[in-house]
Amino acid sequence: MVVEAKAVNVETLVEVKNCTMVFPGVKALDNVDFTLLAGECHGLVGENGAGKSTLSKCIIGDNRMTEGELYIQGNKIHIPSFNVRKSQEMGIAIVHQEFQLMGDLNGLENIFIGRYTKRGPLIDWKELQKEGEALLEYLQCDVDLKVKVKHLRTAEKQIIQLAKAMLDNPKVIIFDELTSVLQEDGIENIFRIIRLLKEKGIGIIYISHRLDEIFECCDRYTVLCDGKWINSGYVKDIDKPELIKMIIGRELKNVYPPKNEEFGETLLEVKNLTAHDGSFRDVSLSVRAGEVVGISGLLGAGKTELIHAIYGNYKTTSGDVFVRGKQVEIKSPQHAIKLGLGVIPDERRLLGLNMLFNIQDNTTLPSMFMFKKWKIFQNHRAEEKAAFDINDKLKLRYVSLSQLISKLSGGNQQKVVIAKWMLRNCDLFLLDEPTRGIDIGAKFEIYSLINELAKAGKGIVLVSPELEEIIGLSNKVYVMYEGKVMDTVEGDDINQEVIIQDLLGVKEA
Ligand SMILES: Nc1ncnc2c1ncn2[C@@H]1O[C@H](COP(=O)(O)OP(=O)(O)OP(=O)(O)O)[C@@H](O)[C@H]1O
Ligand SMILES: [Mg+2]
Repeated sequence: MVVEAKAVNVETLVEVKNCTMVFPGVKALDNVDFTLLAGECHGLVGENGAGKSTLSKCIIGDNRMTEGELYIQGNKIHIPSFNVRKSQEMGIAIVHQEFQLMGDLNGLENIFIGRYTKRGPLIDWKELQKEGEALLEYLQCDVDLKVKVKHLRTAEKQIIQLAKAMLDNPKVIIFDELTSVLQEDGIENIFRIIRLLKEKGIGIIYISHRLDEIFECCDRYTVLCDGKWINSGYVKDIDKPELIKMIIGRELKNVYPPKNEEFGETLLEVKNLTAHDGSFRDVSLSVRAGEVVGISGLLGAGKTELIHAIYGNYKTTSGDVFVRGKQVEIKSPQHAIKLGLGVIPDERRLLGLNMLFNIQDNTTLPSMFMFKKWKIFQNHRAEEKAAFDINDKLKLRYVSLSQLISKLSGGNQQKVVIAKWMLRNCDLFLLDEPTRGIDIGAKFEIYSLINELAKAGKGIVLVSPELEEIIGLSNKVYVMYEGKVMDTVEGDDINQEVIIQDLLGVKEA
């Protein structure tokens, strides 16, 4: 599958020499070297906070490296005057880890913003629509470009970002965790696009925590750890355990802890729930204390909408929800929290974190009431200790708890979302892709935490695009296909073959 970059006479598209990047209190990159060749896909890997996004941003001129040299197609770059516009002109594009789209504009406007084709003084929308559609056709993706981006699914937003990056026929394209929101079929499509780009001689920097992808589509790899260069080489010369060892500095065995098998009362019951727009229909499910319930399905199967509906963030037209046997009508996420639900949403920036708050406040916000002295005063010391302990457990990489959350790396932000709900001591957790963008070592910690929660009698609903994760953690799996629950799989039947058949709608409902 891997198409190797030609070894001789291959142009070096990007060369980074001795790059150091210092933020206040953090040396995000320390003397890093990196090269990207024409026609290669180069995997950039490392733990959360290792410096991958920072290095990408140095290459596109979004970060001004503190020390070091940058060459693009052999030309030495004058760092103080280098910026994103210049890198774009030189043919460098990026699909950022976090969405950088305008929610109130539609897909077409987002793709072409700042580069509108004009006919006289007017924007030629017809022409843009044609160009936009041609771009999506090339990418073999189907997204309605007239819909406001805020109404699109996460994966569709990702497609808009990708189309935007492809617009200027780049020479170099950086994918910063492009696939973290995609399902298997979406990822396959990305691999196909990567092969097309490679054939055209384009160089790709591919950042992902899903190591299987690195072996699937990359020619070379570079490992960063704590801002330092650890190793570079050909992917064909190593295997997955070796790569893991380079990334986390140790071997990783038994990623999934033994499942809890003791269940208590039914904590959540959903009966015949139907969404207002039909994105899921007639869904029934139940979660007992101590149980991890997985929800699996391809993109568009209605998983995320279902989770949103359960916590009062998506309109339903019929169906009943029971929490601890009592019928409830959850009207808003706040109401869900009051009922003892902890929610880790799929889009952390919108729903999970307040970007203007620091780490501690983000961690303790929903559990403030737990840190009272004589029921009146806020016990700041206890609050700080609790925030410290839980973030320490999740191996959060940070300078101080008073650091702004926006200054953390993507994966570390996700850890804070998890920390915050773990701290609140909820009865029932709705986890929508909790390990998205989380490095392999920290994933292990999160799996252990989910397991501990189950053992402590909590109920957990887990949505994940990674089938392995669903299989490794769940006691019961509901498989959704086009809005309906296709099958319920329990115990030893939870295996890849059965679930994939259901996912593809092969079995009759
Ligand atoms: N604007 C900033 N201000 C201060 N510190 C920053 C800033 N951007 C990044 N950092 C710090 O630099 C380090 C590297 O972050 P970076 O985002 O490059 O990590 P990463 O390898 O992309 O991680 P992830 O896998 O979580 O996305 C982290 O410690 C992060 O907190
Ligand atoms: Mg990153």
